[in-house]
Amino acid sequence: MSGAKSVPWVPTRDDLIPYVMTLAKVREGDVFYELGCGDGKVAVEAAKRGARAVCIEISGSLVKKAEERARREGVLDRVILINDDFFNVPLNDATIVYMYLLTHVNRELEPKLSSELRPGTRVVTLDFRIPDWCPVHVVRIREGLREYSLYLYIVGVSDKCVISR
Ligand SMILES: C[S@@+](CC[C@H](N)C(=O)[O-])C[C@H]1O[C@@H](n2cnc3c(N)ncnc32)[C@H](O)[C@@H]1O
Repeated sequence: MSGAKSVPWVPTRDDLIPYVMTLAKVREGDVFYELGCGDGKVAVEAAKRGARAVCIEISGSLVKKAEERARREGVLDRVILINDDFFNVPLNDATIVYMYLLTHVNRELEPKLSSELRPGTRVVTLDFRIPDWCPVHVVRIREGLREYSLYLYIVGVSDKCVISR
């Protein structure tokens, strides 16, 4: 069994979402995949900015919440909701992938990302890196006592880098 199922639902903070959108350069024509999309708040924002969003979530009750959100925000026609394990879903048409998971899950996902995503695809992770990939940009956001990190990876660059330790 994949360790991914042990990732709990911790939503991306609302005030971080504009940073995600800016870093990923979300725009019309993008196909925005969110792996473990929770209640859909990030995917729905991407759809509101003109992307087609693919929201993949293992929890049926969270998929329902994401669907309600997309309907409420008027973008249900631009959000595909998939109630499944993200390891089962092909990612080939993504132009952007967003993940707020855990480092060991990102490590498990890395071969799938490397083999399925096209060169140039932007991958943004919150707080947890993709081990052995080099981010092309890191944004640190301080909120009170906490600091959040957003990592931007570009397929074809970040997955072919040599990490100096
Ligand atoms: C930390 S939460 C992030 C939620 C959302 N991406 C956000 O940023 O608001 C991780 C989510 O991934 C989901 N998840 C964990 N493992 C999964 C898997 N193998 N396939 C699909 N979803 C998964 C969890 O149910 C949870 O909703």
